[in-house]
Amino acid sequence: MKLNIALLAGDGIGPEVTEQALRVSNAIATKFNHTINWTRAITGADAIDKVGDPYPDETHEICMNSDAILFGAIGHPKFDNDPSAKIRPEQGLLKMRKKLGLFANIRPTFTFPSLIEKSPLKKERINGTDLIFLRELTSGIYFGERGRKDNGNTAFDTCTYKRVEIIRLAKKGFELAMKRSKKLCCVDKANVLESSRLWRETVKSMEIDYPEVEVSYEFVDAVAMRLVQWPNSYDVLITENLFGDILTDEASVISGSMGLMPSASVGTETSLFEPIHGSYPQAAGKNIANPLATILSAAMMFEDAFLLKQEANLIREVVNNSLEKSIVTEDLSESGKSYSTSEVGDWLVDNIKKTCIK
Ligand code: IPM
Ligand code: MN
Repeated sequence: MKLNIALLAGDGIGPEVTEQALRVSNAIATKFNHTINWTRAITGADAIDKVGDPYPDETHEICMNSDAILFGAIGHPKFDNDPSAKIRPEQGLLKMRKKLGLFANIRPTFTFPSLIEKSPLKKERINGTDLIFLRELTSGIYFGERGRKDNGNTAFDTCTYKRVEIIRLAKKGFELAMKRSKKLCCVDKANVLESSRLWRETVKSMEIDYPEVEVSYEFVDAVAMRLVQWPNSYDVLITENLFGDILTDEASVISGSMGLMPSASVGTETSLFEPIHGSYPQAAGKNIANPLATILSAAMMFEDAFLLKQEANLIREVVNNSLEKSIVTEDLSESGKSYSTSEVGDWLVDNIKKTCIK
């Protein structure tokens, strides 16, 4: 198969971690007789510096003409400390999500048996955790009307949802639940917010189409609590943009390291795959960042964008092997011995080459 992939490395550790994901993907492609045609494009602070736009039209063209997008991270501290900056790297991310119609952000949280001790939670609580958040990504308070009034002394951000936006996200949630344990949790704040009441009403009206799926409706504050108490009681969760942003960061630490969790964003155009960690500027250029979240995002890409499950599973298998053998970057090292970003990549590539495929 011929795979056309756009590579958006972005800022901070983005270039280093995507490079290892590229090498691992190429090794997989060679093993299974695929050819990958990578097209690099700029985003984030890197693109602001180069062309003054964090998501330039040329990058959008490349994304639109690709079968999948592998993305690193964006963000740079020079913008964080300047609230008056007119152009910010994060705007590139939001523009990209909107222009590519990436309305569903899929963020799994699972545990690795070899890392169970790394979790800040007790192992008996997290054993067997395997849940997936579907976060709405192109609407809500992120994209609602905002501004200042009262001579700048009052500020507002509005959370608006249309029924169609809820339906298309919830449909993905129901479909995913059907493929898994048939349990779906709709996370909202329907005791207070009108937009949440529309979410609840809409999801309820869809239950009839999926009679096998058992749907629960829970308030976001209660979910925030239960997520750390009994994470393994959840399976598929759907929620709006801001609640999803917050809860998926919370969920990401259950596994023991944010450096491990992949994600996919899907919608009307090309799908995008990215690690959920950020640009981690303190580690940039040091060859110490954990590349596994990006490599596992590449696995999601093989499975979801190209329906190449065996390829995806081989990536997951070698990642598991590397964890079991402690071939890990310093964030995961227990023994004091750690490997660099590229050494972890070397090991994985080598292991892919050596593995016999059944
Ligand atoms: C994320 C990030 C972004 C978001 C930021 C960088 C705009 O936190 O992908 O979760 O809030 O969506
Ligand atoms: Mn976030």
